[in-house]
Amino acid sequence: MTPLFEATNLIKSYGANKVVDDLSFHIARGECFGIIGPNGAGKTTTLKICLGQSQADSGQVEAFGLDVPSNLLAVKARMGVVSQFDTLDPDFSCEENILAYGRYYGMRDHAIKERIPKLLGFAALTHKAKARPGELSGGMKRRLSLARALVNEPELLVLDEPTTGLDPQARHLMWERLRELLSTGMSILLTTHFMDEAERLCSRLCMIDHGKKLIEGTPRSLIAEHLPPEMTEDIEGVGVLKRRSNLEDLFFKYTGRQMRMDS
Ligand SMILES: Nc1ncnc2c1ncn2[C@@H]1O[C@H](COP(=O)(O)OP(=O)(O)O)[C@@H](O)[C@H]1O
Ligand SMILES: [Mg+2]
Repeated sequence: MTPLFEATNLIKSYGANKVVDDLSFHIARGECFGIIGPNGAGKTTTLKICLGQSQADSGQVEAFGLDVPSNLLAVKARMGVVSQFDTLDPDFSCEENILAYGRYYGMRDHAIKERIPKLLGFAALTHKAKARPGELSGGMKRRLSLARALVNEPELLVLDEPTTGLDPQARHLMWERLRELLSTGMSILLTTHFMDEAERLCSRLCMIDHGKKLIEGTPRSLIAEHLPPEMTEDIEGVGVLKRRSNLEDLFFKYTGRQMRMDS
């Protein structure tokens, strides 16, 4: 069966810097697939190639069985994108931002306006319908970007670091909404450098560093396969603490480095 999305042997360099190094992955319908790696690992570059926003030096991308970028318009119509940095129009209200985005997809105004209350409700932004992005918190802006990305009822939602920079409450709300979308059968491609986020959301993931795939699988199976069930950590002032092994440990095992958590 053809996967919903497939990237094969992607390579991209900026000058002498190989940023994406022979990266391949696929996404099945209904999956949440994660590209996990520290800052500078090549996550955004990979997504940009997948979205036809950047050209790979070599490799293929196929979405819905169609080649990217040659079928870019047809592919974009079936995708929703939440980029790493907000691209909301600061002069438009929340509802106008969604309206403008829907028009960009060639949707009719009445069809968009019919969806706006539902989308704002989903984003917990009903009370902010008339507010401009400048009046929103970081979490609200990110949820507006999510609502906007859903205007065309995409089959595949692509999110670049959906909770970076958000406070814990806003992160939890975003996770809850993404899980809700997954429960409706939506497929998701996301990147993150938060291992807890990956463990919570991803049905499958690949861990990358320097643009290279280190390891791929389901979070639990990767941990079970490559790590002991428990790790012992020596925390200053607390003594020796036993805790469950996690994806962070796995990254450390493969690179000898801690995942850089700053952003
Ligand atoms: N337009 C660009 N020109 C030159 N170097 C770039 C460009 N975009 C990204 N890079 C470099 O590519 C590497 C990967 O960047 P990026 O894909 O943004 O990583 P991530 O999203 O995982 O943090 C970094 O070393 C970054 O500095
Ligand atoms: Mg990035």
